Amino acid sequence: MEFDQINKTAVTDPAKRPNLEDYASIRANFDWWRDAFEKMDWLAGGGLNNAYEAVDRHVAHGHGDKLAMIWLGKNGEEERYTYAEFKHESDRFGAVMQNLGIGLGDRVFIFMDRLPELYIAAMGILKAGGVIAPLFSAFGPDPVRDRMLDAGAKYLVTSPDLRAKISEMLPDIKTLKNVIIVNKDGRSDDPPVEGDLDYYELMSAADPDSFTMAETTQYDFAIMHYTSGSTGKPKGVLHRHQAVIQQWITGHWALDFKFDDVYFCTADPGWVTGTSYGMMAPWTNGVTQIIYEGGFSASGWYKVIQDYDVTVWYTAPTAVRLLMRAGGDVVDQYDMSSLRFIGSVGEPLNPEAVVWGNRHFNMPIHDNWWQTETGAIMCANYPSMAVRPGSMGRPFPGITMGVLDDQFNEMAPGSAGSLAVRPGWPSMMYTYWQQDEMYNSRFKKGWYITGDQASIDEDGYFWFQGRADDVINTAGHLVGPFEVESALIEHEAVAEAGVIGKPDPIAMEVVKAFVTLNPGHEAGPQLRRELMRFARDRLSAGVAPREIDFIDIMPKTRSGKIMRRLLKARELGLPEGDTSTLEDD
Ligand code: PRX
Repeated sequence: MEFDQINKTAVTDPAKRPNLEDYASIRANFDWWRDAFEKMDWLAGGGLNNAYEAVDRHVAHGHGDKLAMIWLGKNGEEERYTYAEFKHESDRFGAVMQNLGIGLGDRVFIFMDRLPELYIAAMGILKAGGVIAPLFSAFGPDPVRDRMLDAGAKYLVTSPDLRAKISEMLPDIKTLKNVIIVNKDGRSDDPPVEGDLDYYELMSAADPDSFTMAETTQYDFAIMHYTSGSTGKPKGVLHRHQAVIQQWITGHWALDFKFDDVYFCTADPGWVTGTSYGMMAPWTNGVTQIIYEGGFSASGWYKVIQDYDVTVWYTAPTAVRLLMRAGGDVVDQYDMSSLRFIGSVGEPLNPEAVVWGNRHFNMPIHDNWWQTETGAIMCANYPSMAVRPGSMGRPFPGITMGVLDDQFNEMAPGSAGSLAVRPGWPSMMYTYWQQDEMYNSRFKKGWYITGDQASIDEDGYFWFQGRADDVINTAGHLVGPFEVESALIEHEAVAEAGVIGKPDPIAMEVVKAFVTLNPGHEAGPQLRRELMRFARDRLSAGVAPREIDFIDIMPKTRSGKIMRRLLKARELGLPEGDTSTLEDD
């Protein structure tokens, strides 16, 4: 099945023709330097700063009056920022950071809900030469501590409620110099904690006009996101300013941004989609972005699209499935005619979702594929190309992708194997923070190994088949089983924990834990509830197990590794496979 996905209105209006009109010829002639690097403004001294490209250059080009951001607060507030105001405020925060003595490459953690101040701070930090490390505001103290410790965090920007949630662990972060508190509109009545700095006081004391941008180069570090693997704690993926080049051009071609677009990205900045496509891609393309503070809401989202004439919408499969569950009649109550393009990322987009989207939005939902490590879209269904529901599309111009066998040789179309990319794309991660060996291990025979399994069809469309490791994808978010296991065994009742992803019709997978107990503790519903609460408080509701089973013996290899594969096979009632390395055979 294929969809000619050009929207009916787009065909008749030349201004709405896709930016990438002819995939095959653009791909054949593409040149990163001519088509992307040279399209940036660059700094006067030849350097590159992603926040400059996202914000300041539009002011320099006479578009200062254009709206950059419309913030919709969870209490019904609305704030609007033009590019000129955004520049001014982010320069001011850049000055704040310089007054605090920020150095090139210093890691600044941002632990906040989606407030305008988050974006102003992020751009200010980048202009001042710092590295931003945004975290999900849903995180509990354990993930925040692990990440800040690992990265040697120097500054933290947060809000009073979130600070209170992690207060206990903050003294553990010995590298931390300052905590900056954003008490937006006095939302919190709690007295400030001694030693913390107040964002608004710092801002009014700083002079944006005397701010001079740090002379960052394309190779300086800019953004850090933690991602989960199947072993060990999450790793810090480090991106450089140069990633902005690919973020800009994928925004232009894969999300089809046009200068007059109103864009709505439902991703949280704690996730790489929320920085690459919630900051860099839209703003470098000069669009107006809606920042919606609230969480998922079918009618809330449709109302935003209708009331603000959203033209481009980027979301995720779990959200689409939740919209489907809410019902097509809910969509039909709203006017969705402003929409021109819908994109989705993070997990496989099931064909039914594409078909449903086509029925209710008059266009299919365009799946695209990428990872924290790739920094930007690598493979996409483009607005000018027929969509094959269930496929993640074709590689972006300038990107070479392949499917490899277990000797890392390319396979013919039709066979499933390891999804790999030829290294060297502009937004490729620089390394995993202080884990060079782990970084190096991702490269084999000249390929970057993504950790996903996929196949290619005869026409070069890629089809996702699954992950090659134990990482769990729940509602588009990767969860490392080790992180959850580590949290569970901190509870006195738990001796060992094994964590798997259990298939789920909405979230794709949910986190399920199996635990053995220490002597003197009794399995039962009460302990189960207690462990769930314990894990939720420490991790976050999205990462904590949705189900916990008590078992007598944890299946392990002779070397003591928990056999999650076996736990999963048992859970799903599948053959247990090779158990010859089992401890208690
Ligand atoms: O397994 C793939 C899945 O999400 C992983 C990347 O997750 P993360 O690093 O958190 O990056 C999020 C930014 C997109 C991939 O290795 N994934 C992502 N997109 C898709 C997908 N699986 C299937 N189809 C997709 N379109």
